[in-house]
Amino acid sequence: MTFPIEKFKEIQTPFYYYDKALLSETLDTIKREAGKYPGFKVHYAVKANVDPIILNLINQSGLGCDCVSGGEVDVCLKAGFPASKIVFAGVGKADWEINQALEAGIACFNVESIPELEVINQLAAAKDKIARVAIRVNPNVDPHTHKYITTGLDENKFGISMSVLPDVLDLALTLRNIKVTGLHFHIGSQLLDLEPFSILCSRINDLQNMVETRGIRLESINVGGGLGCDYDNPDENPIPDFAAFFANYAKLLKLRPGQELHFELGRSVVCQCGSLITRVLYVKEGLRKKFVILDAGMSDLIRPALYQAHHKIQNLTAAEGSVETYDVVGPICESSDVFGTDEQLPETHRGDIFALRSAGAYGQIMSSNYNCRRTPASVVL
Ligand code: LLP
Repeated sequence: MTFPIEKFKEIQTPFYYYDKALLSETLDTIKREAGKYPGFKVHYAVKANVDPIILNLINQSGLGCDCVSGGEVDVCLKAGFPASKIVFAGVGKADWEINQALEAGIACFNVESIPELEVINQLAAAKDKIARVAIRVNPNVDPHTHKYITTGLDENKFGISMSVLPDVLDLALTLRNIKVTGLHFHIGSQLLDLEPFSILCSRINDLQNMVETRGIRLESINVGGGLGCDYDNPDENPIPDFAAFFANYAKLLKLRPGQELHFELGRSVVCQCGSLITRVLYVKEGLRKKFVILDAGMSDLIRPALYQAHHKIQNLTAAEGSVETYDVVGPICESSDVFGTDEQLPETHRGDIFALRSAGAYGQIMSSNYNCRRTPASVVL
């Protein structure tokens, strides 16, 4: 990726920079690859990034959206997504959030527990509406990813376990204002290996057989998101391998005639198009180490502190020159405010502009005002 560095020099750092051309290319790839299989429908997991320009591009490309709060449903409706393309998940939907979604007429609630199913039924009855729901099931597949972004194991705050699905379906059949339209799954995030998705397919094939014995015909299966990005080599792999991802599902999942397969992709859509742009405040000589102190910290990009994630660090000002070893840190009063240790970088000076790459997903949206700092702005070019 080439960065408009002269422009960056005029802008107050830190800020998130988004490359619209890369996002468009990514969306075109998703459309092309998913479009090869009838019934494949992609919803963008809005939690990854809600920048209005990004949402607008995603909406124009025809994707739907996957929301996890009333706030996200609101943002999507305001961005122009039709309610019929909005699905709403989350373990703790408040009554006002359910009511708002019922009023808007969203496509589907992804339901995560029996009490939630009962509350949605009550609230829908009060409005004389039928709520369309997909039951979220934990397929007990280990995605081999960070424990904070693992969600599909048997016992989890998310979804219900496979063993209680029959009971939940039997209950749902008695609820007059609920229509079960599908099953929902999501095993985890940042998966680079397709194997866990393959195991998911075989679990779903078994569950579909069981569901049909209860006389329920599912309109759709929703396999969530999870496709990972190459954080180490963003320039070599700017677009995740959507072709292999969709082909794997097409090969392994036994969809019924006319049945839709839904995806909720977040990271893979927006990760590589975003970078956190920051300036070097100081280069500090320690006893044994040299520290590059940036004006961006964990309040701007929390992933390294929270998940031990590593975002490629690039000195855009001194792209070449003799290489030195630095620890790259932020200004926040926390020892975990570190973006990289023993980073090999060109000799760095105060005022140099750095890019923390692959920050388009779960970057800006997770920023905070910790230490009374301003949240970073976005620049879309
Ligand atoms: N569907 C459900 C039900 C989810 O929980 C998630 C993400 C997605 C879809 C989208 O998954 P993706 O395609 O982005 O992997 N903040 C963490 C990631 C948290 C993911 C939460 N759920 C991070 O920065 O790595």
